[in-house]
Amino acid sequence: MNIVFLGPPGAGKGTQAKMIAEKFGIPQISTGDMFREHLSKGTELGKKAKEYMDKGALVPDEIVLGMVEERLKQPDCEKGFILDGFPRTVPQAEALDKLLEKLGKKIDYAILIDVPDEELVKRLTGRRTCKKCGMMYHVMFKPPKEEGKCDVCGGELYQRADDNEETVRNRLKVYHEQTEPIIEYYEKKGVLHRIDGMGSIDEIFNRIVKLLGG
Ligand code: AP5
Ligand code: ZN
Repeated sequence: MNIVFLGPPGAGKGTQAKMIAEKFGIPQISTGDMFREHLSKGTELGKKAKEYMDKGALVPDEIVLGMVEERLKQPDCEKGFILDGFPRTVPQAEALDKLLEKLGKKIDYAILIDVPDEELVKRLTGRRTCKKCGMMYHVMFKPPKEEGKCDVCGGELYQRADDNEETVRNRLKVYHEQTEPIIEYYEKKGVLHRIDGMGSIDEIFNRIVKLLGG
Protein backbone atom coordinates (compact mmCIF):
# COMPACT_ATOMS: atom_id res chain seq x y z
CA MET A 1 0.00 0.00 0.00
CA ASN A 2 1.58 3.27 -1.17
CA ILE A 3 0.17 6.36 0.51
CA VAL A 4 0.71 10.10 0.26
CA PHE A 5 -0.40 12.33 3.15
CA LEU A 6 -1.43 15.81 2.05
CA GLY A 7 -2.49 18.82 4.06
CA PRO A 8 -1.32 22.13 5.43
CA PRO A 9 1.45 22.48 8.02
CA GLY A 10 0.07 21.41 11.40
CA ALA A 11 -2.83 19.37 9.99
CA GLY A 12 -1.53 16.28 11.77
CA LYS A 13 0.23 14.53 8.87
CA GLY A 14 3.22 13.50 10.99
CA THR A 15 1.09 12.44 13.96
CA GLN A 16 -1.21 10.28 11.81
CA ALA A 17 1.51 8.99 9.46
CA LYS A 18 3.44 7.59 12.44
CA MET A 19 0.33 5.81 13.79
CA ILE A 20 -0.69 4.42 10.38
CA ALA A 21 2.88 3.31 9.64
CA GLU A 22 2.92 1.33 12.86
CA LYS A 23 -0.51 -0.22 12.29
CA PHE A 24 0.24 -1.35 8.75
CA GLY A 25 3.94 -2.13 9.21
CA ILE A 26 5.18 0.20 6.47
CA PRO A 27 7.74 3.04 6.76
CA GLN A 28 6.83 6.71 7.21
CA ILE A 29 8.96 8.91 4.99
CA SER A 30 8.90 12.55 6.08
CA THR A 31 11.02 14.91 3.99
CA GLY A 32 10.88 17.49 6.80
CA ASP A 33 12.26 14.92 9.30
CA MET A 34 14.94 13.90 6.79
CA PHE A 35 16.09 17.51 6.44
CA ARG A 36 16.11 18.00 10.22
CA GLU A 37 18.19 14.83 10.58
CA HIS A 38 20.71 16.13 8.03
CA LEU A 39 20.77 19.41 9.91
CA SER A 40 21.47 17.79 13.27
CA LYS A 41 24.33 15.83 11.67
CA GLY A 42 25.68 19.03 10.10
CA THR A 43 25.70 17.75 6.48
CA GLU A 44 25.93 20.09 3.46
CA LEU A 45 22.39 19.12 2.43
CA GLY A 46 21.16 20.02 5.92
CA LYS A 47 22.83 23.44 5.84
CA LYS A 48 21.36 24.19 2.42
CA ALA A 49 17.84 23.11 3.51
CA LYS A 50 17.99 25.23 6.68
CA GLU A 51 18.24 28.46 4.66
CA TYR A 52 14.78 27.75 3.25
CA MET A 53 13.16 26.05 6.25
CA ASP A 54 13.92 28.91 8.64
CA LYS A 55 11.96 31.26 6.38
CA GLY A 56 9.11 28.81 5.91
CA ALA A 57 9.95 28.55 2.19
CA LEU A 58 10.20 25.32 0.20
CA VAL A 59 13.56 23.65 -0.34
CA PRO A 60 14.30 23.54 -4.13
CA ASP A 61 12.81 20.51 -5.92
CA GLU A 62 16.14 19.10 -7.13
CA ILE A 63 17.44 18.76 -3.56
CA VAL A 64 14.24 17.08 -2.33
CA LEU A 65 13.89 14.74 -5.31
CA GLY A 66 17.36 13.17 -5.08
CA MET A 67 16.84 12.49 -1.40
CA VAL A 68 13.40 10.89 -1.89
CA GLU A 69 14.54 8.74 -4.82
CA GLU A 70 17.32 7.25 -2.73
CA ARG A 71 14.93 6.55 0.15
CA LEU A 72 12.22 4.89 -1.99
CA LYS A 73 14.77 2.45 -3.40
CA GLN A 74 15.47 1.02 0.07
CA PRO A 75 14.21 -2.55 0.63
CA ASP A 76 11.83 -1.58 3.47
CA CYS A 77 9.67 0.26 0.92
CA GLU A 78 8.93 -2.98 -0.98
CA LYS A 79 5.60 -3.67 0.75
CA GLY A 80 4.52 -0.05 0.83
CA PHE A 81 5.30 3.38 2.27
CA ILE A 82 3.74 6.57 3.57
CA LEU A 83 5.03 9.84 2.18
CA ASP A 84 4.53 12.72 4.62
CA GLY A 85 5.27 16.27 3.45
CA PHE A 86 6.15 15.15 -0.09
CA PRO A 87 5.19 15.94 -2.82
CA ARG A 88 4.66 19.63 -2.15
CA THR A 89 4.61 21.09 -5.68
CA VAL A 90 3.13 19.86 -8.97
CA PRO A 91 6.64 19.25 -10.42
CA GLN A 92 7.44 17.10 -7.35
CA ALA A 93 4.19 15.12 -7.86
CA GLU A 94 5.04 14.56 -11.54
CA ALA A 95 8.61 13.53 -10.73
CA LEU A 96 7.30 11.09 -8.10
CA ASP A 97 4.98 9.45 -10.63
CA LYS A 98 7.85 9.05 -13.10
CA LEU A 99 10.08 7.54 -10.45
CA LEU A 100 7.37 5.14 -9.24
CA GLU A 101 6.68 4.07 -12.81
CA LYS A 102 10.36 3.18 -13.17
CA LEU A 103 10.10 1.12 -9.98
CA GLY A 104 6.85 -0.55 -11.14
CA LYS A 105 4.77 1.13 -8.41
CA LYS A 106 2.01 3.72 -8.07
CA ILE A 107 0.24 5.80 -5.42
CA ASP A 108 -2.86 4.00 -4.10
CA TYR A 109 -4.17 6.67 -1.71
CA ALA A 110 -3.62 10.42 -1.48
CA ILE A 111 -5.11 11.37 1.89
CA LEU A 112 -5.83 15.05 2.44
CA ILE A 113 -6.21 16.06 6.09
CA ASP A 114 -8.42 19.15 6.11
CA VAL A 115 -8.03 21.73 8.91
CA PRO A 116 -8.83 25.48 8.90
CA ASP A 117 -5.90 27.94 9.09
CA GLU A 118 -6.65 29.42 12.53
CA GLU A 119 -6.58 25.99 14.15
CA LEU A 120 -3.24 25.29 12.42
CA VAL A 121 -1.57 28.30 13.99
CA LYS A 122 -2.65 27.04 17.44
CA ARG A 123 -1.43 23.51 16.74
CA LEU A 124 1.97 24.59 15.44
CA THR A 125 2.88 27.24 17.98
CA GLY A 126 2.10 24.74 20.80
CA ARG A 127 3.90 21.77 19.27
CA ARG A 128 6.80 20.12 21.10
CA THR A 129 8.87 17.26 19.66
CA CYS A 130 11.10 14.67 21.33
CA LYS A 131 14.78 15.15 20.47
CA LYS A 132 15.46 11.45 20.81
CA CYS A 133 12.52 9.56 19.23
CA GLY A 134 10.61 12.26 17.28
CA MET A 135 7.32 11.75 19.19
CA MET A 136 5.04 14.80 18.89
CA TYR A 137 3.27 16.58 21.74
CA HIS A 138 1.21 19.72 22.17
CA VAL A 139 1.25 21.96 25.24
CA MET A 140 -2.57 22.04 25.34
CA PHE A 141 -3.91 19.26 23.12
CA LYS A 142 -1.43 16.48 23.91
CA PRO A 143 0.72 17.42 26.89
CA PRO A 144 3.43 15.02 28.10
CA LYS A 145 2.93 13.46 31.56
CA GLU A 146 6.00 15.30 32.82
CA GLU A 147 6.72 18.80 31.46
CA GLY A 148 9.51 18.90 28.87
CA LYS A 149 10.00 15.12 28.90
CA CYS A 150 8.94 12.46 26.37
CA ASP A 151 6.44 9.85 27.71
CA VAL A 152 7.88 7.16 25.43
CA CYS A 153 11.64 7.48 25.90
CA GLY A 154 12.25 10.19 28.51
CA GLY A 155 14.00 12.35 25.86
CA GLU A 156 14.01 16.14 26.04
CA LEU A 157 11.23 18.00 24.20
CA TYR A 158 12.06 20.95 21.96
CA GLN A 159 10.22 23.53 19.86
CA ARG A 160 10.97 23.56 16.12
CA ALA A 161 12.72 26.71 14.84
CA ASP A 162 9.99 27.22 12.21
CA ASP A 163 7.08 26.99 14.68
CA ASN A 164 6.99 30.68 15.64
CA GLU A 165 3.88 32.60 14.54
CA GLU A 166 5.57 34.65 11.78
CA THR A 167 7.16 31.63 10.08
CA VAL A 168 3.97 29.61 10.53
CA ARG A 169 1.95 32.28 8.68
CA ASN A 170 4.47 32.19 5.82
CA ARG A 171 4.35 28.37 5.69
CA LEU A 172 0.55 28.60 5.36
CA LYS A 173 0.88 31.13 2.53
CA VAL A 174 3.41 28.92 0.75
CA TYR A 175 1.07 25.94 1.23
CA HIS A 176 -1.91 27.72 -0.34
CA GLU A 177 0.14 29.04 -3.27
CA GLN A 178 2.50 26.18 -4.10
CA THR A 179 1.17 22.98 -2.55
CA GLU A 180 -2.62 23.22 -2.84
CA PRO A 181 -2.57 22.68 -6.65
CA ILE A 182 -1.46 19.07 -6.09
CA ILE A 183 -4.88 18.30 -4.57
CA GLU A 184 -6.37 18.67 -8.05
CA TYR A 185 -3.50 16.62 -9.49
CA TYR A 186 -4.45 13.63 -7.31
CA GLU A 187 -8.18 14.26 -7.72
CA LYS A 188 -7.79 13.87 -11.49
CA LYS A 189 -6.00 10.56 -10.92
CA GLY A 190 -8.96 9.37 -8.85
CA VAL A 191 -6.92 8.57 -5.72
CA LEU A 192 -7.76 11.61 -3.57
CA HIS A 193 -9.58 11.12 -0.24
CA ARG A 194 -10.52 14.02 2.02
CA ILE A 195 -10.45 13.42 5.76
CA ASP A 196 -11.91 15.90 8.25
CA GLY A 197 -8.88 16.82 10.38
CA MET A 198 -10.91 18.39 13.21
CA GLY A 199 -11.52 16.22 16.26
CA SER A 200 -9.29 14.18 18.53
CA ILE A 201 -6.14 12.47 17.29
CA ASP A 202 -7.80 9.06 17.81
CA GLU A 203 -10.97 10.08 15.96
CA ILE A 204 -8.95 11.13 12.93
CA PHE A 205 -6.86 7.95 13.11
CA ASN A 206 -10.07 5.88 13.06
CA ARG A 207 -11.34 7.77 10.00
CA ILE A 208 -8.12 6.98 8.13
CA VAL A 209 -8.03 3.32 9.20
CA LYS A 210 -11.63 2.92 8.00
CA LEU A 211 -10.72 4.43 4.63
CA LEU A 212 -7.76 2.05 4.28
CA GLY A 213 -9.94 -0.93 5.20
CA GLY A 214 -7.89 -1.86 8.27
P1 AP5 B 1 7.59 19.54 7.44
O1 AP5 B 1 8.42 19.00 8.52
O2 AP5 B 1 7.02 18.60 6.44
O3 AP5 B 1 6.46 20.43 8.08
P2 AP5 B 1 4.97 20.78 7.59
O4 AP5 B 1 4.48 20.27 6.34
O5 AP5 B 1 4.94 22.24 7.74
O6 AP5 B 1 4.12 19.96 8.53
P3 AP5 B 1 4.26 19.86 10.01
O7 AP5 B 1 5.26 18.83 10.41
O8 AP5 B 1 4.50 21.25 10.58
O9 AP5 B 1 2.80 19.47 10.44
P4 AP5 B 1 2.04 18.08 10.47
O10 AP5 B 1 0.91 18.15 9.52
O11 AP5 B 1 2.98 16.93 10.35
O12 AP5 B 1 1.43 18.17 11.93
P5 AP5 B 1 1.80 17.37 13.27
O13 AP5 B 1 1.35 15.97 13.18
O14 AP5 B 1 3.20 17.63 13.68
O15 AP5 B 1 8.41 20.64 6.60
C1 AP5 B 1 9.18 21.63 7.23
C2 AP5 B 1 9.94 22.43 6.18
O16 AP5 B 1 10.83 21.57 5.46
C3 AP5 B 1 9.10 23.10 5.09
O17 AP5 B 1 8.61 24.37 5.49
C4 AP5 B 1 10.12 23.19 3.93
O18 AP5 B 1 11.01 24.26 4.12
C5 AP5 B 1 10.90 21.89 4.07
N1 AP5 B 1 10.35 20.79 3.26
C6 AP5 B 1 9.85 19.60 3.74
N2 AP5 B 1 9.43 18.83 2.74
C7 AP5 B 1 9.63 19.54 1.59
C8 AP5 B 1 9.37 19.26 0.23
N3 AP5 B 1 8.78 18.11 -0.18
N4 AP5 B 1 9.71 20.21 -0.69
C9 AP5 B 1 10.29 21.37 -0.31
N5 AP5 B 1 10.55 21.68 0.98
C10 AP5 B 1 10.23 20.78 1.92
O19 AP5 B 1 0.82 18.14 14.31
C11 AP5 B 1 1.05 19.49 14.66
C12 AP5 B 1 0.72 19.70 16.14
O20 AP5 B 1 -0.68 19.52 16.35
C13 AP5 B 1 1.41 18.70 17.11
O21 AP5 B 1 1.76 19.39 18.28
C14 AP5 B 1 0.32 17.66 17.40
O22 AP5 B 1 0.47 17.09 18.68
C15 AP5 B 1 -0.96 18.50 17.30
N6 AP5 B 1 -2.09 17.74 16.78
C16 AP5 B 1 -2.09 16.81 15.79
N7 AP5 B 1 -3.35 16.36 15.56
C17 AP5 B 1 -4.16 17.04 16.43
C18 AP5 B 1 -5.57 17.03 16.69
N8 AP5 B 1 -6.39 16.22 16.00
N9 AP5 B 1 -6.05 17.88 17.62
C19 AP5 B 1 -5.22 18.71 18.32
N10 AP5 B 1 -3.88 18.75 18.13
C20 AP5 B 1 -3.37 17.93 17.19
ZN1 ZN C 1 10.92 10.32 22.86
